[in-house]
Amino acid sequence: MTEVLKVNPLRPEKEVIERAAEIIRRGGIVAFPTETVYGLGANALDENAVRKVFEVKQRPADNPLIVHISRLDDLYLLASEVPEIANKLVSSFWPGPLTIVLPRSEIVPDVTTGGLWTVAIRMPSHPVARALIEASEVPIAAPSANLAGKPSPTSASHVFQDLGGKIDMILDGGEIIHGVESTVLDLTTSPPTLLRPGPVSVEELEALIGKVSLHPVVVGESEEVLVAKSPGMKYRHYAPEAELVVIEGRPELVRRKMEEILLEKKMKGLKVGAVVTDEMADLQVDVVKVVGSRKNVREIAKNIFRVLRELDAEGVRFAVIEGIEPKGIGLAVMNRLVKAAGHRVIRV
Ligand code: TXA
Ligand code: MG
Repeated sequence: MTEVLKVNPLRPEKEVIERAAEIIRRGGIVAFPTETVYGLGANALDENAVRKVFEVKQRPADNPLIVHISRLDDLYLLASEVPEIANKLVSSFWPGPLTIVLPRSEIVPDVTTGGLWTVAIRMPSHPVARALIEASEVPIAAPSANLAGKPSPTSASHVFQDLGGKIDMILDGGEIIHGVESTVLDLTTSPPTLLRPGPVSVEELEALIGKVSLHPVVVGESEEVLVAKSPGMKYRHYAPEAELVVIEGRPELVRRKMEEILLEKKMKGLKVGAVVTDEMADLQVDVVKVVGSRKNVREIAKNIFRVLRELDAEGVRFAVIEGIEPKGIGLAVMNRLVKAAGHRVIRV
């Protein structure tokens, strides 16, 4: 049985948090809102609890989890070395959507890190996430609270769709803020390597610490050719029912290309869809999903995982996706879209 409890996202009720923390302390699993996406939390230091997280998500054992903390002291407990650059980053971006990868300490179990010698750590800013970690009095390992291969959940109902009945509790704190998962930065290389683009942009990181190298997967290279540095990279993140194609370039050309491809697929009798910005909302297609204005990338980021879920739910068999500018959080959005499309991208 999965208990779903509403919680005030700004001022989480003590009794609610205490019940959830009790579950974490005794080795159970609680889904909770963070500022990025909903997470699936367990005591990061309890092997059995973490193993359960892998099981219910059907996540491969070599894809490590991010450990979430609420006090800076815990960074020094979990990492065996904290270089100056880490201090600089966390004083600017924590609490918030930045995950850093550092050499792990002995207290972190193998299951949590998928056997790696490093550990990924982040201090979330969402009041519910913080309150839960504090009340649990342990660091919380939490992948996104979706089944492996599904889009990350941006609402409690997405979590329920994937994991209802399989976990102890879902804290429903309503909407998330960013809509794409945290930026993951590996600090064991010099310069640091961006493993996953997210809400903290490359531009912001570089303004603070100088050059950041982009892992090939970030710039859209296919996973198969990579030696996986971040094991999560080699797994297809979202395997939609629909065949997806991202089309990028000048808006007029993108529109023309979309119309051409949609017509062709429609003639084959397929239910077709499109994921577009406001500016292209009038496209003639069976199912159109509007993600927001091209001028407001933050809004697009917030909607993207939801519309991908909706395409599947509505039985779309083929969909075009309008590419957006890969700047700021736009890089994270494009990274997720290109993955969802299995690297089918057309540039016009
Ligand atoms: O925003 C987020 O980060 C959300 C919320 C819940 O905090 N969590 C999340 O976790 O997205 P997950 O498990 O879905 O993604 C974690 C990513 C994976 O790509 C994983 O491979 C990578 O972080 N990762 C974890 N530990 C790592 C490590 N030691 N070295 C390299 N990559 C690591
Ligand atoms: Mg995930």
